Amino acid sequence: MAFDLRRRSLLKVQDLTQRELVYLIDLALDLKRAKRSRSEQPSLKGRNICLIFEKTSTRTRCAFEVAAADQGAHVTSLDPQSSQMGHKESVADTARVLGRMFDAIAFRGALQETVEELARYAGVPVYNALTNEYHPTQMLADVMTMREHSDKPLGEIAYAYVGDTRSNMGHSLMIVGCLMGMDVRICGPRPLWPGDGYTRVAQELAQHSGARLTITEDPHTAVAGADFVHTDVWVSMGEPEAVWSERIDLLRPYQVNAALLQAAGSRQAKLMHCLPAFHDARTVVGKKIAERFGLADGLEVTDEVFESATNIAFVQAENRMHTIKALLVATLAD
Ligand code: CP
Ligand code: NVA
Repeated sequence: MAFDLRRRSLLKVQDLTQRELVYLIDLALDLKRAKRSRSEQPSLKGRNICLIFEKTSTRTRCAFEVAAADQGAHVTSLDPQSSQMGHKESVADTARVLGRMFDAIAFRGALQETVEELARYAGVPVYNALTNEYHPTQMLADVMTMREHSDKPLGEIAYAYVGDTRSNMGHSLMIVGCLMGMDVRICGPRPLWPGDGYTRVAQELAQHSGARLTITEDPHTAVAGADFVHTDVWVSMGEPEAVWSERIDLLRPYQVNAALLQAAGSRQAKLMHCLPAFHDARTVVGKKIAERFGLADGLEVTDEVFESATNIAFVQAENRMHTIKALLVATLAD
């Protein structure tokens, strides 16, 4: 193995070096090809992985489960209702118990502090499957997907993230591109810009990698010449319903629609979204918000753009599984 990631945790994307991240993506591409050609070799037989999901999930949970099954490992899922963690047992005690039974733990929940405490006490690798602050496993898939959809070297790729930039996705996309030496444009209204601490991390990484970081309120500046335009929901999991009204007022000008994509330039920029997306009124929340605020064509992205060939979010979703598998193999195989 060119890089020894064995027994390593992944708590935030900046835990990885640029070369380690490239290594994980190369491994994910190999594993994707192997699965397609039915030549995949299971290297995690006998391993046990605990998945703790305090927040809901479709992609991340399924990605861990399928990746583990393909590689011969077994998973156990816990949630707040079915475990003692937090209610009757501290995070530190839970970590020490789980670390004696499992080879690794994935955690999704509100607090970054919780995933860091699990990692401090478990004695086995811990993976951040999303917290309010970061979404590092999503970043592996996002960089892999941009690499698959561009002929340029990573350092020449330009991407914009437009919307709520002061979120797990905003922080993570700002930091990962700066780690990888990319042209990163972070765009949203000033009250929703990332806090200084996150921006400083990104700027320091950019100094080493040669990345260009632009933080702007102007969506046209952000997308000009971009190869990829990322967006995410305007209200994240765990935020109160009451913030929708204020958020819509702030973010309406940042909707990813056909006009904004055209502003990217002559070469059609690709739409990326970690999903789930509010692009129509076919969900309970989407319907309620669309009716209340008169946004029948979609919220952060229009249905027109979402349903067009420019949308590569479903490849991005598939790549969650290949990249999480790469992470498991790199950190848990002998
Ligand atoms: N993108 C993502 O993390 O999706 P889930 O919430 O479905 O896991
Ligand atoms: N920002 C979103 C990401 C979902 C994958 C949320 O936290 O709800």
